[in-house]
Amino acid sequence: MTLLLAIAVFSCVFVVCQTAPQDQSWTEDVVSYSGFQLWSATPRNKTEREFLLKIRQDYELEVWRESRSDNSPVDLLISPDFQTELKLRLADAQIPYEVKIADMQTEINNENPNITDSGTEFENRFSHKMDWNSYHRVDDIYGYLNYLADTYPRLVQLVSIGSSYEGRPLYVVRISSSSSGTKPAIWIDGGIHAREWISPAVATYIIQQLVEVADNERLLRNVDWYIMPVMNPDGYEYTHVNNRLWRKTRSMTGSRCRGADPNRNFGYEWGGKGTSRDKCSEIYHGANAFSEPETRAVSNFISGKANQIKVYLTLHSYGQYLLIPWGYAVKFPADYDEMLDLAKAAASKFRRYKYTVGNSADLLYPAAGGSDDWAKSIGIKYSYTVELADTGRHGFILPASFIQPVCEDFFPALEVFVDKVATVKV
Ligand SMILES: *[C@@H]1O[C@H](CO)[C@@H](O)[C@H](O)[C@H]1NC(C)=O
Ligand SMILES: *[C@@H]1O[C@H](CO)[C@@H](O)[C@H](O)[C@H]1NC(C)=O
Ligand SMILES: [Zn+2]
Repeated sequence: MTLLLAIAVFSCVFVVCQTAPQDQSWTEDVVSYSGFQLWSATPRNKTEREFLLKIRQDYELEVWRESRSDNSPVDLLISPDFQTELKLRLADAQIPYEVKIADMQTEINNENPNITDSGTEFENRFSHKMDWNSYHRVDDIYGYLNYLADTYPRLVQLVSIGSSYEGRPLYVVRISSSSSGTKPAIWIDGGIHAREWISPAVATYIIQQLVEVADNERLLRNVDWYIMPVMNPDGYEYTHVNNRLWRKTRSMTGSRCRGADPNRNFGYEWGGKGTSRDKCSEIYHGANAFSEPETRAVSNFISGKANQIKVYLTLHSYGQYLLIPWGYAVKFPADYDEMLDLAKAAASKFRRYKYTVGNSADLLYPAAGGSDDWAKSIGIKYSYTVELADTGRHGFILPASFIQPVCEDFFPALEVFVDKVATVKV
């Protein structure tokens, strides 16, 4: 029986791979990061910053985290081909750097427990496979959302707001203790960037807490919730099956490179600073604003509820920041101080992980076409990007043992947003 099941599962995977849309130079091989390292280099002044920029361009290095200022590190993924040369160049320039991850593939192999057996056990016991001890595939997450909608029909509504490029449903969970849906609402999305696995984990944890923990009933009394745990399911699946470090969507671009950066694809100041028209770039902004079916579906859905939704939170990793618009330039909304006060109040709830609060372009770097800017632009007053843990020790490859601590640390901060908007008229 078990063997038969296993065969069925594998042949399904095989069929899906075979029928997926084809690129001209289609190679759906599994990408190995054997020998790749994560380096963290810290420039101390303009000369050193420019030197690092030059190196990044010369070797087309992938940046995991940008340097914020002098004495703030830049995290770089370094292929084994360049390590010897780069060591010499950095030593020559006397720029301090640290090897954060010595072998990326080992780090990836150890990130997520091997759950094949316990998964079956969970399904028999709870009718779903979700837990917060490991990172789950889209099927497990969607199975859990369906389970919740079936089990708590008066509280949970599962809304499919469209389909991804590869045809997966785009699910938003509506959690409301009243059927009318006229309370002020909080929107939370996760998984906009595929490789930021902690983000869907936190989003699903929030859903679990709001729906299945009776003590949290007070968080539903005066507020409705719209939570989309996986905004970019194609990319998320791709990170599980083919390339752990994939960031973008999986749309065809007409070049050898696929996907756009969904967080550069929203229609406010689209195509501005911190974006790229290069289809192979990690920050490719797409052919036009909302070119990706995922961002288009989200914008249509949120636009239709722009009067009801008072808080927009989008979950990313990593760095431990609460970021306030605008992101497209170092510019501050007229009500920036109110947004800052609320973010500070939320950040004060965190116990285990310390978050830095500030304007995103100022604190990090300008990046146009972000979802938080767009949400702010359509009148959602309290719009934030959350960069979850950690601060760079593991980066995107945060071991599964961190899921529960990060989730438990984050959840209490939501109370601050609830209290703020509970009494707002809609
Ligand atoms: C930059 O910092 C390094 C290390 O402190 C120093 O040796 C170098 O002279 C500095 N360059 C400039 C232009 O200040
Ligand atoms: C899962 O199994 C693989 C292959 O045996 C192993 O390399 C990896 O370290 C295991 N991962 C964990 C987190 O135990
Ligand atoms: Zn992100």
